[in-house]
Amino acid sequence: MAKASLVVLISGSGSNLQAIIDAIKAGQLDAEISAVISNKASARGLERAAAENITTHVVDHKDYPNREMFDKALIDIIDPLHPHLVVLAGFMRILTDGFIRQYHHRLINIHPSLLPRYKGLHTHRQAIDNADKIHGASVHYVSDELDSGPVILQAEVPVKADDTEQILAARVLAEEHKIYPKAIELHISGRVTFNDEQLQFDGKPLSTPLLLKDGRLLNEQLA
Ligand code: GRF
Repeated sequence: MAKASLVVLISGSGSNLQAIIDAIKAGQLDAEISAVISNKASARGLERAAAENITTHVVDHKDYPNREMFDKALIDIIDPLHPHLVVLAGFMRILTDGFIRQYHHRLINIHPSLLPRYKGLHTHRQAIDNADKIHGASVHYVSDELDSGPVILQAEVPVKADDTEQILAARVLAEEHKIYPKAIELHISGRVTFNDEQLQFDGKPLSTPLLLKDGRLLNEQLA
């Protein structure tokens, strides 16, 4: 069977992109990256992709008069590649409903919080300000509401008394690098699927997100 193909959208460092590349190279993820698209020409992730001979595209949102035209330019690149999954990895643009519909059930995002907590920006600061004991990251399918949509997989990290935003962000990012390749694998292997709009894991409705802890998948339904 042909390998599952991914298109990865980035805006910046691309450390999650790197984690996906590394998982593919290590044989943990049976996929190939057909293209990496950035809305910023300066994104470090473009260099990471080029170093692996992955096709890259820059689609600068500033070159388009509105979100619809920008998203159409993305779709014009993505559609001919027929990807199994479109992967948002630090892509800092809000996508139109039209784009989201186009990739219904095959568009995923990583967000640095335990969703539904802390949608949007400054998640680490909010976790510290609220004296949370636990913070983390989530991989979710994208719906037309920001940072919503069914959550596939999460990882938790402790929030320590002397944490700064930067220290906490780095602790979360290290977990992101584990859960993103794993969540992609759950999708392409068919372990995570949809029955209409109901997320399913191994053929059963998944009512709470899976948790990756010490390399193991946990869920109260698996207990
Ligand atoms: C990550 O924290 C991700 O959760 C958020 O943006 C950051 C991207 O980092 N959406 P990188 O570009 O993958 O290094």
